[in-house]
Amino acid sequence: MNLADRFPKELEGLLRRIGEIGERAGFTVYAVGGFVRDLILGVPNFDLDVVVEGDGRLFARRLAEEMGGEVVSYDRFGTATVRLEGERIERLDVVTARKERYPHPGALPEVEPGTMRDDLFRRDFTINAMAVKLNPSGYGELLDPFDGLGDLKRGLIRVMHDKSFIDDPTRIFRAARFEQRYDFRIEPHTESLIRQAVEINAPLTVSRQRIWHEIYLILSEPIPEKPILRLQELDVLRFFRSDLSREGLGLFPRIRELHGEIKGLVEDEIDLPIAYLAALIGGYTPRAVREFCREFGLSKEIEDKLIDSVMLARFEGSLDRPSAIYRSFERKSIESLIFFVALKGDEVKGAVIEYLTRLRHVKPLVKGDDLKRLGLKPGPIFGPLLKRLFDMQLDGQLRDKSELSDLLPKLLDELKP
Ligand code: CTP
Repeated sequence: MNLADRFPKELEGLLRRIGEIGERAGFTVYAVGGFVRDLILGVPNFDLDVVVEGDGRLFARRLAEEMGGEVVSYDRFGTATVRLEGERIERLDVVTARKERYPHPGALPEVEPGTMRDDLFRRDFTINAMAVKLNPSGYGELLDPFDGLGDLKRGLIRVMHDKSFIDDPTRIFRAARFEQRYDFRIEPHTESLIRQAVEINAPLTVSRQRIWHEIYLILSEPIPEKPILRLQELDVLRFFRSDLSREGLGLFPRIRELHGEIKGLVEDEIDLPIAYLAALIGGYTPRAVREFCREFGLSKEIEDKLIDSVMLARFEGSLDRPSAIYRSFERKSIESLIFFVALKGDEVKGAVIEYLTRLRHVKPLVKGDDLKRLGLKPGPIFGPLLKRLFDMQLDGQLRDKSELSDLLPKLLDELKP
């Protein structure tokens, strides 16, 4: 089977050049994995992984030289990442075809150079174990020794061998993710291997960080509640947390809708998976959130967003004035605000949108210098006074600096300790 005519137009030139450079350097070069799977399914995928029979690092250097790019990293598996200039794909992973051996369950594998067939055999599922040749002789030819194409047509997620989930238990999470993404089925024998691996707690052999990475990928799926429910049904979710909120999962569709609406109104980057995660752990105390983040190695940035979320989940204040809205949402992350609207319902939506689109951009009319100019000495009163003036401005009670001199005596009196 030849897939050359299905290559995305945007990549056509690049793929040809990679094959030509490989040919001149004496290497056979393939595109592999998800790129090939999605090519056959007709799903756009610009995440190109290249496998080279021979020395992948040498080929990566050649590629970088000839294409005016740069090799940016190497790892201990013989993978090199090349940064390309001005191409549709900016980063390309180049892998040396290899055999893998897992020294013990859940460990990172030991590798040695291998054939292309070895390299496909070491992979997770048959549908991800296909390659397409890029050399000019045979450009676009499908290499499919394990009938990945058949499984794609049948809609089956099937492992390459019976030890797969013991070697690498993260594949259990991946199986649920691909199954639900494509509306496939995990093939019955593969499913029984998952159940056996779960029975002996195989996922405990991988680090918490790697488990979190898999959960993050799941939360990045178009409809993450599907793989999550599947993991629950396979009794796998307990290797992440056993105390996730079922109601939280019910908020996912609303979170998705709100994300769609709000991203059109603001410039912020929105980390949607974190809004979903907030729903799953929305009932935690801030302290439990911190412990959770430490356990799974989440960044400080994510931790702060989750703390915002659990605080907002307990919010009971009023949002009846612009200043109240501003003070309630001040510096809260956008993800936590999306979660908050999903949780509390549409009566708070207007307030959140008002905050995001207008209130948070308002600049204070009055600054410390203005107070000094009116004869006030800088001191502890400045902070509360400026805050009060800004609230008045937000609520439309202060429209111009000229009103300040009339207002000050009353405010100073009010704010007196
Ligand atoms: N792979 C594997 N076992 C893993 C992770 C990855 O065998 N635990 C292999 C698969 O062949 C996979 C390829 O490495 O296709 C690339 O991995 P990744 O980029 O994580 O997955 P994709 O298949 O590209 O999936 P996605 O569409 O989610 O990016």
